[in-house]
Amino acid sequence: MTEASSPPERPLALVVLAAGKGTRMKSDLHKVLHPIAGRPMLMHLLASADALDPARKVVVVGAGREQLAAALGDSAELAVQDPQLGTGHAVQQAESALAGFAGDVLILYGDVPFVRTETMRAMLERLHEPDNPAVVVLAFEPEDALQYGRVIAENGVVTKMVEHKDASAEERACRLCNSGLMAVRGEELFALLGRVGNDNAQGEYYLTDIVNVANSDRRVCAVVVTDDPDEVAGINSRAELAEAEGRWQKKRRLQAMADGASLVAPETVWFSWDTVLGRDVTVEQNVVFGPGVTVAVGVVIHAFCHIEGARLESGVSVGPFARLRPGAVLEEKARVGNFVEVKNAVLHAGAKANHLTYLGDADVGAGANIGAGTITCNYDGYFKYRTVIGERAFIGSNSALIAPVKIGADAIVAAGSAVSRDVADGELRLVRAEQLVKPGWADRFHDAMKRKKAERK
Ligand code: UD1
Ligand code: CA
Repeated sequence: MTEASSPPERPLALVVLAAGKGTRMKSDLHKVLHPIAGRPMLMHLLASADALDPARKVVVVGAGREQLAAALGDSAELAVQDPQLGTGHAVQQAESALAGFAGDVLILYGDVPFVRTETMRAMLERLHEPDNPAVVVLAFEPEDALQYGRVIAENGVVTKMVEHKDASAEERACRLCNSGLMAVRGEELFALLGRVGNDNAQGEYYLTDIVNVANSDRRVCAVVVTDDPDEVAGINSRAELAEAEGRWQKKRRLQAMADGASLVAPETVWFSWDTVLGRDVTVEQNVVFGPGVTVAVGVVIHAFCHIEGARLESGVSVGPFARLRPGAVLEEKARVGNFVEVKNAVLHAGAKANHLTYLGDADVGAGANIGAGTITCNYDGYFKYRTVIGERAFIGSNSALIAPVKIGADAIVAAGSAVSRDVADGELRLVRAEQLVKPGWADRFHDAMKRKKAERK
C-alpha cells in the first residue's frame, strides 16, 4: 500500500468564469453581483476560495466588465472574453494573465457561489494523488439530470465527458453530472485547451473536452463527487437566486442556534453574510439583519426589528418594531423600544429610548432617558448636525432637539420643548407657551352653545 502523500505546496490560481450573458436574470446588474445575504454571489465564492490562499485570481468577463472591475478593485485580475464561444474558450482568455504560472488552477463559475472550501481542497488533493490525473472534475448526482453535461466514469476515473445535446440515449441515462468546476495544472491547462475544437452540437469550445483530449493521450482524469447538490447549484434566474438565499438562510439559522442563540421562529429571521451573534442572544419573530451587525451576549431582540450596521453590546434590549440604521451603537444594557429609529448615534450604557423616537447623529449619555416622541432634528435640508445628551439627562416626551445642540448631564428638558440652544448640566429647560387658566370657561361655553342650537330648531 502506498502511503497517501500530501500534495506538494504548489501555488494556486483561480479562474472564475463570469462571461455568460445571464439573460435569464433580466437585469442591468451583472449576474454574479446579485447579492445573497447582502453580499454579491461572486464575493461568497471568492471568500470560500480565499481560504486556500490563492496566489492569483482571474475573473473572465464579457458584458458588464466595468461593474466587475468596480466590485473587485485590485482583489482580482480581469480577462475579457468577447465574443463568448464556450467555457473552454472562456478559460483560454486567462492564458496571458497566467503566462508562466507554475501551479494548480481551479476553474470556478461565478454563478455557482456556494462550493465549499473542503470540496475545492478535495479536488486539488485528488490532482496530486499517485495516478497523477491531468484533470479533476467535480461532479454531482442531481435528482433530475436535466441538461447537465454527463460524466462517464468508472471507479472515479473519467472515460468521457459529453454535453447533454451531444449525448446518446445511453449516455443521457447516466446520472453523474458535470458541475463545471475543474482542477488542472497550470503547466498543462492551456496546451490541453489549445487542442479543443468546436465540432459539436452547439459549435462551442467546451472546457469539458480537455478531459477527452487528455484521455486520448492515455492520461487519467479523475472525478470528485460531492454528496451535496446544493453546493454546485448554479444561479441563472431570480427564482434560483431566491432559492439560494433561502438555503443560505436556513443554514445560517441552524448555525446561529448551534452557537447558542435562541431563535423563536427561525424561518422568519434573516441574516446577512457578516452578522455576528453572541451567546444567549434571543431573537424573536420577523427580525432582519442587514450587513454590518454585531450582537453581544445576552441581547434580546424583540419581534419585527430591522437592524443594519449596528453594534449591540451585552444585555441590550431592542424592539419590538425598532429600526437600527448604520452607525447605531447601543452600549451595555441600553434599551431601544417600539417605533424607535436610531442612526449614527450612540446610546451609552443603560440609556433608554423606549417609544416613538428618532435619534440621528446623536450621542446619548449613560443612563439618560429619552421620552416618547423625542426627535433629534439633525438635518436642515443641507447639512447634518449632532445632538449631544449628557449622562442621566431626562428628555421629556415630544421634545424636539434642534441640532447642533448639547443637553448637559442630569438636565431635564420639559415635555413638548423645542430646544435650539444648549442646556447646562443640571438645568431645567422648558420651551413652551405660558399656560392660560380659565376656571369654568368651558362650562359657560357649552351652556351658551347648547342654548343657541336649541333656538335654531
Ligand atoms: C456547463 C458545462 C456542463 C455542466 C454545466 C453545469 C461545458 C461545455 N458545459 O454547461 O457540462 O453540466 O455547465 O452548469 O462546459 N461562460 C463563459 N463564457 C462562455 C460560456 C460560459 O464565461 O463562453 C460561463 C458562464 O458565465 C457560466 C459558466 O461559464 O458561469 C457555465 O456556462 P453555461 O452556459 O451555464 O454552461 P452550460 O452550457 O450550462
Ligand atoms: Ca448553466
